[in-house]
Amino acid sequence: ALALSLAPVSIAAKREVKIGAVFPMTGPVATYGQESVNGIKLALKKINQEGKVSINLTVEDNKSEPQESANAVTKLINSDQVDAIIGSVASSNTLAGAPIAQTNKVPLLTPASTNEKVTMTGDYISRTCFTDAFQGVVMAKFAYENLKKRKMAIIIDNSSDYSKGLSKVFKKKFKELGGKLVSDEDFAYIQKDTDFRSLLRKIKRTKPDAIFLPGYYTEVGLILKQARQMGLNMPFLGGDGWDSPTLQKLAGAAVSGNYISSHFAPDDKDPRVQAFVKEYEAAYGQKPGVMAALGYDGILVMANAISNAKSTKRSDIQAAILATKGFVGVTGAITIDGNRNASKSAVVLETTPSGNVFNTKVNP
Ligand code: PHE
Repeated sequence: ALALSLAPVSIAAKREVKIGAVFPMTGPVATYGQESVNGIKLALKKINQEGKVSINLTVEDNKSEPQESANAVTKLINSDQVDAIIGSVASSNTLAGAPIAQTNKVPLLTPASTNEKVTMTGDYISRTCFTDAFQGVVMAKFAYENLKKRKMAIIIDNSSDYSKGLSKVFKKKFKELGGKLVSDEDFAYIQKDTDFRSLLRKIKRTKPDAIFLPGYYTEVGLILKQARQMGLNMPFLGGDGWDSPTLQKLAGAAVSGNYISSHFAPDDKDPRVQAFVKEYEAAYGQKPGVMAALGYDGILVMANAISNAKSTKRSDIQAAILATKGFVGVTGAITIDGNRNASKSAVVLETTPSGNVFNTKVNP
């Protein structure tokens, strides 16, 4: 008689993990959350199809607020028992959640928070984007060397760690290069302000030849509009915080003639970028913004780390994230350095009513 042996079909064990995502789905920086999650979901389709890892994603809305970000991290760890967390975007939000992830030894990777302090929280906190120490220098040089500006004013968002940190780096570098500031004190507003006219009137009297405005798109959109109405026609310069399609909606024609640093240019000729733009457009019917690209790369780095890790234990996942070297994403090649930051190139974009246009690429 023939003995039938039921040999087990060998399927490489698929790693199943739970990842929590903390993003601003509502509130003043809601486009960051919506675009990030779109980018992440697009990447997840690929990751889950590839079959090495299977990621189950739980998205929490932090409402663009620090306290809500802390609550979201706590919930993801305590009730969802996630293996790792991706998020958030605004540095003040990530800074509020990161200490909780650190204390619980849960890997937290931010695809977008650029403030220096974020990864200093501890060894479980990393990022796949560059920092403001780099971005601030890029813009100070661009102002001084490319635009030949010599006397600048700085307007900061006093409720944002990102804005405060980035202005410091810019100021230091611009002065080092030989530039002057119209005043040693910053002109300041806070998030959700809507009337900037008295602030702009004060600045107008100091006659700057350009203005550095490291804010987020909601307030920046209104500031640009009000500034142009008041005859402040000099260029405004900003950072990645301007990079949202809503900026164009809010500022209209007033967006013209200004420059920002960012992580991604949708008009980049790189075939990898163009393939991503096509894929994203097919899925969502619109061009991807910077946050879509950053979210996409962030989750791909996590998935790659999970498949390389010794096990799906949180400590092994974190060790694998920190071992990331030369991972080629749509926002550039990602290597996590000894301070858990990514050293990557930045792009300078000109903001125009029909979208941001690539100007230059700056390598670290
Ligand atoms: N870098 C910003 C911050 O740390 C967040 C941001 C990233 C905004 C990318 C827009 C695009 O607060």
